[in-house]
Amino acid sequence: MLIPNLEELTRNGAGGVPPRQEISLDSLPFPPFEMRELVGPTDLSAFDNPSRKLAYDYLDPAVYEKVFDFGCGCGRVARQMMLQNPSPKMYVGIDLHPGMIRWCQRNLQPVAPNFTFFHHDVYHVRFNPVPGKPLTATFPVEDGQFTLVNALSVFTHLTQEHAVFYLRECARVLHPDGVLHASWFFFDKREYPMMQEHDAALYVSYVDPGAAVIFDRNWVVAKAREMGLRVCKVVPPFIRGHQWAVIMTRREDVEEAEFPPDTAPRGWARPPMGSRPDSASIGMEPDS
Ligand SMILES: C[S@@+](CC[C@H](N)C(=O)[O-])C[C@H]1O[C@@H](n2cnc3c(N)ncnc32)[C@H](O)[C@@H]1O
Repeated sequence: MLIPNLEELTRNGAGGVPPRQEISLDSLPFPPFEMRELVGPTDLSAFDNPSRKLAYDYLDPAVYEKVFDFGCGCGRVARQMMLQNPSPKMYVGIDLHPGMIRWCQRNLQPVAPNFTFFHHDVYHVRFNPVPGKPLTATFPVEDGQFTLVNALSVFTHLTQEHAVFYLRECARVLHPDGVLHASWFFFDKREYPMMQEHDAALYVSYVDPGAAVIFDRNWVVAKAREMGLRVCKVVPPFIRGHQWAVIMTRREDVEEAEFPPDTAPRGWARPPMGSRPDSASIGMEPDS
């Protein structure tokens, strides 16, 4: 099933695009601690936006019109974008964790019905461990409609095969003038002569390959080009070796961006463990 596009939503009044009034800060609940723990930062400030600034100040404000948030978790970015000024006209978030999506549908969507959340029902060893589920699935949206496709801390958890699949999906749903904003861990494969020709990813855990995945930077750039994407902006990590924000576009008239050196201070920023035995059922408790 495809999710209706913005024009259909407006025409049908289905879900309804509400008047563009500001959402008050206290009308938006915060996700519970155990969900924040699943996605990383637990501090409430990481989910908030009291100054109503754009979620990413280095992106053109125009790209926030129609947002697709791949791996939206418990609505960290959605919540910030609901509060930002101007707020997106349309936002679609998908995640494979059923409880986090349910929480977003029940707690965020009613406040801003132009923000919708869908369960991307693919297998995940910790978050959706249901035997028989597909390992990947196409995004439930039409081609070329999103001016911003966001994937914050998502490719950093995908295996090489899945990263290829979802990079292609991101390119497919991206508007010709839109941008893909995704974060990545990078290494330079030329420094690892023992790696096979087809291998482009390093996995920090052999128990859970998706715990943290580091990609050969040249491979990512080349794969993106194969899919009609080019790197147009790069934001280096805040901690040496941590996440790079890479902005890509389908436009051919923009100059390809260079990667600056990583001169950030050294430190630790460990990814979420999500190793609680009940990780998959958080947020799926029966209604009392
Ligand atoms: C580190 S969390 C980041 C969540 C959110 N982007 C944020 O910044 O708060 C990674 C998220 O990606 C989701 N995820 C990973 N692989 C996915 C896939 N194939 N489809 C949908 N969601 C996925 C996980 O369930 C998890 O919520």
